[in-house]
Amino acid sequence: MNKIKVMLVFGTRPEAIKMCPLVKELEQIPEIEPIVCVTGQHREMLDQVLQAFEITPDFDLNIMEKSQTLSSVTSKVLMGLHDVFNQNRPDIVLVHGDTTTSFAAGLAGFYHQIKVGHVEAGLRSFDKNSPYPEEMNRVLTGRIADLHFAPTTANKKNLDLEGVREHVYITGNTVIDALKTTVREDYVFACDALNHIDYSKHVVLMTAHRRENYGKPMENIMQAVAQLAAERPEVTFVYPVHLSPYVQETAHKYLDGSPNVMLIEPLGVFDMHNIMSRVYMVMTDSGGLQEEAPALGKPVLVLRRETERPEAVVAGTVEIVGTGKEDIIEHANRLFDDQEHYLRMKRAVNPYGDGNACARIAQDLLYYFGTGEEPAAEFVAE
Ligand code: UD1
Ligand code: UDP
Repeated sequence: MNKIKVMLVFGTRPEAIKMCPLVKELEQIPEIEPIVCVTGQHREMLDQVLQAFEITPDFDLNIMEKSQTLSSVTSKVLMGLHDVFNQNRPDIVLVHGDTTTSFAAGLAGFYHQIKVGHVEAGLRSFDKNSPYPEEMNRVLTGRIADLHFAPTTANKKNLDLEGVREHVYITGNTVIDALKTTVREDYVFACDALNHIDYSKHVVLMTAHRRENYGKPMENIMQAVAQLAAERPEVTFVYPVHLSPYVQETAHKYLDGSPNVMLIEPLGVFDMHNIMSRVYMVMTDSGGLQEEAPALGKPVLVLRRETERPEAVVAGTVEIVGTGKEDIIEHANRLFDDQEHYLRMKRAVNPYGDGNACARIAQDLLYYFGTGEEPAAEFVAE
């Protein structure tokens, strides 16, 4: 029997965290041969995840450059995959989400007339410039893809509005699958400094990296955190700083002088999920953290003007704060001072998945290729 050759292409930290559980799942399916191709859009931050999940890629395009441009990433992925597909032509390419790796890999698949499956399809902010360039990356990937794995019902509806109606499966988000394997009560952090924090006191986890926040918005975020830290010396702010040179420079410029702000290297995914499960709240412009923190019952302040993940906002655990300094300070202070408000936001909700997304995607793939009898039962949020 010829196996179905499924090539998973990814290149950044969040894609890896969300695709590695799927690689593991596909490895268990006798009818499927998974092939892993990383673009290396990220290097250290990607390798951290590959090591954590013990995955060795079959192909590595190794494209990262310091302060790379979107054009460079796109063209290097396209050219690199041209060579890979000539060596090893899969039956389908699976890409993830909204990065430039995802879009360029989807385009490469299309140019080679290989089927394309889009994992985490259908999220929309409806603003082509925010998140930038991710909104357009995701829209274009959705236009190219033959199969669409939408995490939620709302994501499927977004695709429907654009006329994308065939082979759309509601699966839940694979990040919830990952979370189920990483968080442990007795976990000991690899980053030893995290073992010495008193989590019975208020600890805030923060991250910031979005391109559309570069410049004034990012400076506002850093200044707001510096002021909050100065006004509340009893609170510890834990900030694993993204390796982007711009983010590194801005974070250190504004926060180096704050004794209760821990500026640390990017955390391995096990450390990250476990610290998230222990903190008081999360402040972030990240997409993935907006999905993980609600599942762990942690209030999230989103340091952006919009979100393509409205489900947890509707559920009440996530607030869109924007990037104004005073707005950030006001929303954070309310969560520190107004316990009723805090407890309302703290409820654990799981609008993004139930931990079975990878199994659903595997079953849907078998169905699509005529090996399985029916697609998986769709994910329905609690
Ligand atoms: C990328 C994605 C973004 C995603 C983010 C996750 C695009 C356009 N952007 O943004 O959607 O939210 O990843 O983190 O696809 N760097 C390192 N080592 C690393 C990773 C990055 O040094 O392991 C530095 C390099 O100088 C690199 C820069 O960070 O040039 C920016 O990386 P890039 O992937 O272009 O942008 P991100 O902001 O990480
Ligand atoms: N993450 C991590 N270490 C860190 C920061 C983030 O493992 O130091 C994880 C986080 O838990 C989430 C993912 O990386 O699963 C989010 O990635 P990022 O914020 O870089 O990108 P986004 O989700 O915004 O695309």
